[in-house]
Order: sequence, then structure tokens, then C-alpha cells
Amino acid sequence: MLVLGIDTSCDDTGVGVVELRPDGSVTVRANRVWSQTVHANYGGVMPELASREHVERIDAVMEDALAEAGVGVGELGAVAATSGPGLVGALLVGLMYGKGLSQGLGIPFHATHHLEGHIYAAASETELQPPYLALVVSGGHTHLFDVLSEGQYELVGATRDDAAGEAFDKVARLSGLGYPGGPAIAEAAKLGDPKAIPFKVPLAGQKGYEFSFSGLKTAALLAHRAGAKPEDLAASFQAVAVKSLVQTSVRAANDLGRNTLVVSGGVAANAALREAFVQTGLRVLFPGKGLNTDNGAMIALAGAAAIRAGRGEHGLSDGATAYAPLANVER
Ligand code: KG4
Ligand code: ZN
Repeated sequence: MLVLGIDTSCDDTGVGVVELRPDGSVTVRANRVWSQTVHANYGGVMPELASREHVERIDAVMEDALAEAGVGVGELGAVAATSGPGLVGALLVGLMYGKGLSQGLGIPFHATHHLEGHIYAAASETELQPPYLALVVSGGHTHLFDVLSEGQYELVGATRDDAAGEAFDKVARLSGLGYPGGPAIAEAAKLGDPKAIPFKVPLAGQKGYEFSFSGLKTAALLAHRAGAKPEDLAASFQAVAVKSLVQTSVRAANDLGRNTLVVSGGVAANAALREAFVQTGLRVLFPGKGLNTDNGAMIALAGAAAIRAGRGEHGLSDGATAYAPLANVER
């Protein structure tokens, strides 16, 4: 069965196609993303502009995705689209497009959680068997989930303030490294000394599994004002941000007895972060190429997982929601 996935939760128009085989295995057949650039002038995403761009682009991205997969629209077997969390006006574009397609083609529709998409992005090359821990690190989220069984999520820890990606973006901006900040910091860090600025690991010594990046961001601002070289600032910031994410996740994995860890979301594209997680000795799974940052294929993968687990079709009555916690099991 071919599953179409659509994500328009923020500033990327993503459409992907995934093949789900009778034995449960999956292959990404297409993944096309149009990344909006209009927001660069504003220093942040302008919601109304994002919605308009999605409307203007979604048809073309859809056509590209079908062409890449080498299939016609009539060959699709199910549609999945993100219903939340995200910018409501932006979400509505992809959600309504997906619902319309499913109605028009007479095929099932799956309203899909954006974070479940990020997690299943790591299932593009390997099978994901619960239980496992999942760290979602993106521009809007730094969440650590214990995935107890298929579709059962317990929140283990989250950021108290800024998301990890948000911190990368803000530190890049304050040190003049540009936007988007994650790749800019990663690039500059290659030329800097990670020990140049002695940043402290946030929440060191805590018993829980929380994260915090706001203090680190302020420390970076002070170092910048004191004349730190942007490359040293980038390298030192990246080193401590990575340390914090790795140490807390590994401690949680050990305490909860999990040996598989999924690391996904935009920040999972970071090479230093990947390297540090690989060194931990845990079985660490990352999304395949092009599946870290927001995209449609990850939503198709989550949809395929729901179909495979018999979680059934649903969602024609689901609306777009800005706030939608994924956790459905109390800790
Ligand atoms: O998952 P994503 O596309 O969007 C959200 O759902 O938020 O993540 C975008 C975030 C941005 O903050 C961006 O700076 C960060 O991911 N990012 C990175 C890298 N590539 C993207 N952060 C660190 N290193 C990277 N290489
Ligand atoms: Zn995302």
C-alpha cells in the first residue's frame, strides 16, 4: 500500500510517499520539501505568510512527490496529514488538502501527530520495536518519551524553557552566524575551539530528566559581548548543548532499562550530536537522510505504523491544534 504523508505545521511544505508491504516493512519512495524563505527578513516565522505560501506551493510539492515515487494519485492507498501541534493556519492547509484527497479518492485518512512523525522518521531504515526511548530535538521541542508499546507514550522529560533548536538559532543570531542557526553553528564550530569558553552543563546534578537552554543562551550572549570569536562561541556552545542532551538521555535510558534510543527532529541532523550518541554504546537510531527536519515522509511513516498496528483510520473530524501533547500514559 502507498501512503501519502503531508506536513505543513510550520514553514516547510512537505509531501512524502511511503510503501507499506504486507510483511510490515516500509520504504520511503518520495520526500519533497519546499522550505519557505520569506521569513528570513523577519527573524522568525510569520504565521500568516507561512499559511499563504503553503497554499501556493502544496500542489507543486505534491506533483513532485508523486513524480519522484513514480506513481499516479489513483495508486495511493491512504493519506496521512499532520493535525498538530503547529501553527493552526499552516496546519489547516495540509490537513484540509489531505482530507479532500482522501474523500475524493475514497481512501482512509489518518490525522497524525507531528512528534509521532519525527519519531517514526527513524523507522525509515530499521524496524522500530517498542519499548524504546525517543528524544525529539527540534526548533519547537526538546522532549524525551518512553515509548512503552506501539502508540503509548510517557513523557520522561522536556525542556523547562527554550527548545534545543531554538537555542542553536538564537546563539547563531546573537553571534552573527545567520539563519537557520543549527547548520550555521555546526559549520562555524568546525573552525572553533570547544574548550575556549567554559560553559556549564545546564541542570548538572539533577535527579530528573529535564533540559534547559535559556541560561546557556544568556551565557553565550555575555561571552559574545566580552569579545569571544564566533567560531569559538559556536564550538563551545555546541559542545555543551550536546553534552547536556546526551548525558540526560543516557541516564534516563539506564534508569528505565531501555537500550534503544531514537534521536530525531531537526537538531538530530547535527554531526557532533550524532557522534556523541554513537559513542554511548546504546543502540541509537537516527532518521535517514532528509528526514531530520520537518517533512512529509515522516508523517507517511507514522501513518503506515498506525495502519500496520491496526490503529485504524480516523481524523476526518479532527481539527488543527496548536497545542497537542503526545504523551498518553501517566508517569
Ligand atoms: O524539526 P524541525 O525542522 O522543525 C521543528 O519542528 O521545529 O527543526 C528545525 C530546527 C531549527 O531550530 C534548526 O536550527 C535545527 O533544527 N537544526 C540543527 C541542525 N539542522 C537543523 N541544529 C543543530 N545542528 C544542525 N545541523
Ligand atoms: Zn518538527
